[in-house]
Amino acid sequence: MIGSVRTNGSAPVSITGLGCQVPERVLTNDELSRMVDTTDEWIVSRTGIRERRIAAPDEALSDIAIPAARTALERANVRPEDLDLIIVTTVTPDMLFPTTAAILGDVLPSPDAAAYDLLAGCTGFVYGVAQAYGMVAAGLSEKALVVGGDVLSKILDWTDRSTCVLFGDGCGAVVLERVDEGGFLGFALGADGGGGSYLLLPGSGSRALEDGNRPNVIHMHGPEVYKFATRVLVSSAQDLMAKCGVTTADVDLYIPHQANLRIIDHAVRQLGIAKDRVMINVDRYGNTSSGSIPIALSEALAAGRVQKGDLILMTGMGAGLTWGSALLEWTGERETWQ
Ligand code: ACO
Repeated sequence: MIGSVRTNGSAPVSITGLGCQVPERVLTNDELSRMVDTTDEWIVSRTGIRERRIAAPDEALSDIAIPAARTALERANVRPEDLDLIIVTTVTPDMLFPTTAAILGDVLPSPDAAAYDLLAGCTGFVYGVAQAYGMVAAGLSEKALVVGGDVLSKILDWTDRSTCVLFGDGCGAVVLERVDEGGFLGFALGADGGGGSYLLLPGSGSRALEDGNRPNVIHMHGPEVYKFATRVLVSSAQDLMAKCGVTTADVDLYIPHQANLRIIDHAVRQLGIAKDRVMINVDRYGNTSSGSIPIALSEALAAGRVQKGDLILMTGMGAGLTWGSALLEWTGERETWQ
């Protein structure tokens, strides 16, 4: 596990702008129940998901990443040409190369920015923000853009009821810069490759397909992923809070990865966080992987649930298997975000 806390003397770095974008098309549980052998009741009771957004056939990740990035830049009052770093965290880039980050650099345009994609499953956004934080705090980057987003509908087996009901498409973007005070207090990131076979995309790289595996669709062992997710959602948050010297009583807003309401409820109970301090929107988007946390943060801001000085705890977990938490003291004024 790696971590960095501000008590090590690093410069304060924070999110200065944020935007999100989801495809227009809403896919409800009732529609799904006409596609596979499932029901709205099963999906809601096991996951809390009621509907999700699905990209159009000709819609790729960059099509939703670009508007999200433009909103984040506008809110940060940063010109695209002043960006020096673009990280896109995703498992569904437009294609492996050119990277979606490089495509963004071309379109925004940010001609001088270093640009690359980062793969860490649903934890991608937290990993990407931690990396950008490190570069900005160290002075390697002044203005960094981190985009977390996925269009998992493109890699789902739409005949497999055990996976296709869980996921959706969406994207969020943040600008990171040095600030006078507040900002990120620490990160706790980890991975366990030993559990990788519980959540995988066979045929997506240089390893030949094993017999019987359908290529390029998500294969998941639901119960094992459930056990893993409930465990790390709690342990990762506890590790980070201990490092940063805070307790759950200090946390004003908890944004867990929006995978499944039962997993979130379990973590909330174990951590002892008051329910009115938990951000939940999995009912409307399903699991949007890397898009999940920035979309939830964006909606919390729009709803006026975050004030300057508030402590925000975010935890992601997913394929790899990976997990990551971030603790952020919010530096923006609420009015800026409405
Ligand atoms: N509709 C109806 N029945 C279904 C469906 C469905 N959509 N999907 C599976 N089933 C059936 C199975 O075939 C199985 O039937 P069987 O017992 O006859 O074999 C049965 O439901 C399994 O039922 P439960 O054991 O009650 O299901 P469970 O409580 O394990 O819930 C679930 C399944 C929701 C997938 C759960 O295991 C889970 O949430 N896992 C975590 C998955 C996850 O969040 N992945 C996201 C990616 S990683 C991340 O973001 C953390």
